[in-house]
Amino acid sequence: MAEEFRVALVGCGGVARRYRRIYGRLPGVKVVSAIDLNEAEAAQTAAEVGAGRISQNFEDALGREIDVVVLSTPNDMHCEQSVEALRAGKHVLLKKPMARSVEECDQIVLLGHKHCGPQKGRGEAAGAGRPPAAAAGWQSNSTHTAVGLPRLPRGW
Ligand SMILES: NC(=O)c1ccc[n+]([C@@H]2O[C@H](COP(=O)([O-])OP(=O)(O)OC[C@H]3O[C@@H](n4cnc5c(N)ncnc54)[C@H](O)[C@@H]3O)[C@@H](O)[C@H]2O)c1
Repeated sequence: MAEEFRVALVGCGGVARRYRRIYGRLPGVKVVSAIDLNEAEAAQTAAEVGAGRISQNFEDALGREIDVVVLSTPNDMHCEQSVEALRAGKHVLLKKPMARSVEECDQIVLLGHKHCGPQKGRGEAAGAGRPPAAAAGWQSNSTHTAVGLPRLPRGW
């Protein structure tokens, strides 16, 4: 395990205002970049957490100097940004909801497994060749939410 996780905070406004400064105090965590379309939010965050860089460009979260991408962007960005970050070999910490549909969640989970390996003991026994969310019994329920109600089998 890395001695220090180098973090990019992506999406610094909204709910992130409530917790962003915590990242500056976590042992073993160094916030390298604060990234937001709104430059003032990125700058305020960088000042609070001691990040050396601000950016308005998500691509700046994908450089070699970053280990972890924290996404606090709107829901419609979650899948695309998670997929890009996972493909770049990053760990991803994502605000809820994970994504807009079971299919988007599966894209993220499958890529996470591919790049980081499956989480042992969670869902894999039930997974057996099926997309993770579907294997776990999640169902789309477009009437109520985009992602649907999670129905988890025993052991979860
Ligand atoms: N607001 C809440 O109380 C709350 C609670 C729990 C979870 N969440 C989740 O947190 C996430 C963010 O919600 P929010 O309410 O903070 O939204 P918000 O729209 O208030 O803030 C999102 C921030 O992301 C930035 N942003 C948007 N697109 C971007 C991009 N492509 N690259 C970089 N920055 C970008 C915006 O400028 C803004 O600062 C959502 O997934 C939401 O469901 C919010």
